Amino acid sequence: MKDDNFLKENNARHLWHPMGHPGDLQNNTPTIIKGAEGVHIVDIDGHKVVDAVGGLWCVNLGYSNDAVKDAIARQLYDLPYYSAFGGTTNPTAIEASYMVREFFEADGMVRAFFTSGGSDSVETCLRLSRQYHRLRGEPTRTKFLSLKKGYHGTHFGGASVNGNNRFRLNYEPMLPGCFHLPSPYTYRNPFNELDGAKLAQNIAAAMEDEIAFQGANTIAAFIMEPIQGAGGVIVPHESFMKLMRDICDRHGILMISDEVITGFGRTGDASGARHWGVQPDMMSTAKGITSGYFPVGATLVNQKVADVFEKDTTGEGAIFHGYTYSAHPVGAAAVIACLTETQRLNTAANAGPRGTQLYEGVLKLAEKYDIIGDVRGGHGLMTGIELVSDKAAKTPMDTPTMKRIHKTAYQAGAMVRLGMHNILMSPPLTITEAEVNTILSALDAGFAAA
Ligand SMILES: Cc1ncc(COP(=O)(O)O)c(C=O)c1O
Repeated sequence: MKDDNFLKENNARHLWHPMGHPGDLQNNTPTIIKGAEGVHIVDIDGHKVVDAVGGLWCVNLGYSNDAVKDAIARQLYDLPYYSAFGGTTNPTAIEASYMVREFFEADGMVRAFFTSGGSDSVETCLRLSRQYHRLRGEPTRTKFLSLKKGYHGTHFGGASVNGNNRFRLNYEPMLPGCFHLPSPYTYRNPFNELDGAKLAQNIAAAMEDEIAFQGANTIAAFIMEPIQGAGGVIVPHESFMKLMRDICDRHGILMISDEVITGFGRTGDASGARHWGVQPDMMSTAKGITSGYFPVGATLVNQKVADVFEKDTTGEGAIFHGYTYSAHPVGAAAVIACLTETQRLNTAANAGPRGTQLYEGVLKLAEKYDIIGDVRGGHGLMTGIELVSDKAAKTPMDTPTMKRIHKTAYQAGAMVRLGMHNILMSPPLTITEAEVNTILSALDAGFAAA
């Protein structure tokens, strides 16, 4: 490893970072994180803070889980790679698929398809949903419905169903046939509806209207996050996902639950869909599947979908889709160890009360600081804070102030994430009460510096 001077000098010189301006980052270089322990990260200058971001909504087990690290290391010696394209497989992939399927059995999932991450899992759902309808003899069902404010990764399919134009505008044209419904976002919505239950009804009506306009027989699938993460931690009313499920059923539209963040305990339940009492047709997962220790994702399907593929006798049910690293043996070893640890530690049970503590703590801060326009969370360890410069007008907070808050909070002991004028938090699910309090006091310091 080169010394610290080399690292600082070369920071962002040769590397273009995701989600950042390459020119800006050369002038304002990113923080170099050199180590981590438990729920803490340590930067190159030795400053240690609680990671309230959990890496990127993914380090559910914290940074010190030796069971996962050992499993990865052992597998590298046993079999570092072999392809799973039709014809060969490997032992850890077989075991991991069994475990993932079992983990989501209560969600009605019966088969798993491994990918390299969340965007891949979403892409797999979108592609397989079209193939499903073709196999059933409805090849006209090719369109997708999704929600504004949704985030489904950055592949062309995922970006096309994304509901934030920042990830779209510079990359247009997107996939044709993708249509967006309003987000269940009570703070800002086109209906000016503050009541979550009524807003859910309005969106359901908008969905029915869109389906009637497009023609149900042209729509393959509807994709949604059970709680919208990157869009600002937008928690829908408890009736919302059920309403969407019901509409999908009535019109023969597949429901894809994008569980890339919400899967594996983050909401306090094993999946976000389960949190809302819904069984989707397909699920896209990643992140918490390995706690971020190895890049893996998985798409899951229910019996209805599996039957159509498996019972096909025409040959058209063959899946001509997949990735070199699908069912990677090292990734699969990470999945087995991570799910075993997730269950042993019962991280979902900790996510509930710690998430409530964080949410209620931020609500208290909102009484103190007028710049806090909206606080969202209370359903596991996902909390969003929307900052405004004028509370009555709901004017989004300017970027320099957001950056100042972020920097001060970091100096005071917590790494938080900025998403436009939102602060987003998704700490490891292993976090303790005292560590949540550290996040809250760091936020307090950050808001005081606004
Ligand atoms: C809900 C959701 N779907 C998909 C993705 C894309 O995952 P990845 O960045 O692993 O491609 C993300 C990433 O944050 C996500 O939050």
